[in-house]
Amino acid sequence: MTTTAQGVGAPGRAQIGSGSLRTDRWWLPPLATNVGLLIFLAYAGARTFQQQYFFADQRYLTPFYSPCVSLGCASEPGSSHFGMFLPDNPLIPYAALSLPFLLAFRLTCYYYRRAYYRSVWIAPAACAVPEPHATYTGETRFPLIMQNVHRYFFYIGVVVSLINTYDAVRAFWHPMDGFVVGVGNFVLLGNVVLLWGYTLSCHSCRHVMGGRLKHFSKHPVRYWAWTRISALNTRHMLFAWVTLGSLILTDLYVMLVARGTITDFRLIG
Ligand code: FES
Repeated sequence: MTTTAQGVGAPGRAQIGSGSLRTDRWWLPPLATNVGLLIFLAYAGARTFQQQYFFADQRYLTPFYSPCVSLGCASEPGSSHFGMFLPDNPLIPYAALSLPFLLAFRLTCYYYRRAYYRSVWIAPAACAVPEPHATYTGETRFPLIMQNVHRYFFYIGVVVSLINTYDAVRAFWHPMDGFVVGVGNFVLLGNVVLLWGYTLSCHSCRHVMGGRLKHFSKHPVRYWAWTRISALNTRHMLFAWVTLGSLILTDLYVMLVARGTITDFRLIG
């Protein structure tokens, strides 16, 4: 281990020769985090720029293309619910209006920050494992000070969750057959419920509901909402991972139906 002026090598700290005295498999969680994040990013990136198979059975819109606002959405009539005004370009995602904000919402999320600080930036990778960085400034300087804008991305996350909810509800109507219920409806609905779980369990949401209140007794509704959100908040990490999986599964389902690889089984209609 190299001796540095700060951190674990600083004068006055116990000088330990080995990288860590831990004998358990402490490297497993950061490795699993990296693999999970890489799988999601690779899948989401490939699908976002594929610009095909994003709308199935004239009613199922994948969340990776919602809202579909590119002129290219015209290739799938009915897929655009809020107008088409962005140029059709292979480098511009069809949902370019929402994806950058969703990415920023997740990147600045308190849980994901913890995850990638540990697994990608190794600062540190685990308890009692020295980090390779000589200095530590936390989130007090650019660019990490920008993490503070997370509270504003939360509001955008709410708007996008509302749009996803609209997509899921609208998917019950087929332009020819009217009201229909297929397996895809449950897939879209399940994904939306989980997305709301993630969005509402956000730390910023908890603060919006109950932060800065001096007397809970004078704000019974906000107190009630705060207690519910606090309970959800304890599972925020779970929602963070489960929604990555549900987004992939929902998109995969829509893609396979759109390609004709599988058939959407209908219960009604
Ligand atoms: Fe994770 Fe806000 S803290 S979404």
